[in-house]
Amino acid sequence: MQYAIVTGASRGLGEAVAHQLIEKNVNIIAVSRSENEKLKKKAEERKVDYYHLSCDLSDPAQLEDGLDRIVDIAFHDDTHYVYVVNNAGVIEPIDTIGNFASADVQKHVQVNLTAPILIINRCIKEANQKDINTFVINITSGAAERPVHGWSTYSSTKAAINRFTETLALEQEGNGHKILAYSPGVMDTDMQGEIRSASEDEFADVDKFKQMKEEGKLRSPDEVAAVLMDLINQPDEIENGKVYKLYDLVGKK
Ligand SMILES: NC(=O)c1ccc[n+]([C@@H]2O[C@H](COP(=O)([O-])OP(=O)(O)OC[C@H]3O[C@@H](n4cnc5c(N)ncnc54)[C@H](OP(=O)(O)O)[C@@H]3O)[C@@H](O)[C@H]2O)c1
Repeated sequence: MQYAIVTGASRGLGEAVAHQLIEKNVNIIAVSRSENEKLKKKAEERKVDYYHLSCDLSDPAQLEDGLDRIVDIAFHDDTHYVYVVNNAGVIEPIDTIGNFASADVQKHVQVNLTAPILIINRCIKEANQKDINTFVINITSGAAERPVHGWSTYSSTKAAINRFTETLALEQEGNGHKILAYSPGVMDTDMQGEIRSASEDEFADVDKFKQMKEEGKLRSPDEVAAVLMDLINQPDEIENGKVYKLYDLVGKK
């Protein structure tokens, strides 16, 4: 059996990735605070197992409970492959340094960095003990590679996830796992709505992002997920630890 653990599958890119994995007949464990009825229905139609783990990844206790459930569901004797898609992410707080509330920063780091690290830590442990191969996909951002005014926490957590991906690949060489980070470019999701709602004081480039939306430069999550599926479907071509960028694969819109 094959399973995919997809965080943030309730909407946006995570929803699109989960849809496309269901089409590959992969059983889905969707991790998010809210449920997605369309995914559930699609899984039923395709006769694929679908589990929604209601979990706030910013809450360490909920994350630990969620990890126990993930292991119970996905890592057993009949499992031969597990996809681990760390997609859930937040952009908030968007503001300049000096203006953050500490709870917002804690929550951001927990969702964007601590949760993916702990999910991978547990899945790799189980997989290596039980001789199950995994394909780890960490969703990153172009912001990992440059400072962006107003996005210091986001750039920092995405830069850290890139380095974590590289380190995981280094350590797991020869263990049969596929490991990559995927930078999806600018997508038409709720996250972009949050970005456009920032003030210019909080985020200097806000007008540029409003313009990109007006000019139709944002890709749909389905299109972006399809490019990721092309990578997933050619595992032998994957360079472990690499950050694959949508813009390098298909160009800018
Ligand atoms: N949109 C872009 O232009 C863009 C560009 C580059 C990179 N990315 C990256 O792509 C990924 C997906 O982004 P998106 O645009 O699809 O975002 P989105 O539409 O805002 O969706 C975010 C997802 O993350 C989940 N999530 C957020 N906080 C959570 C929490 N505390 N606990 C559990 N789940 C949580 C949400 O589920 P619930 O609310 O149901 O919990 C939702 O499913 C993110 O890692 C993002 O950084 C996006």
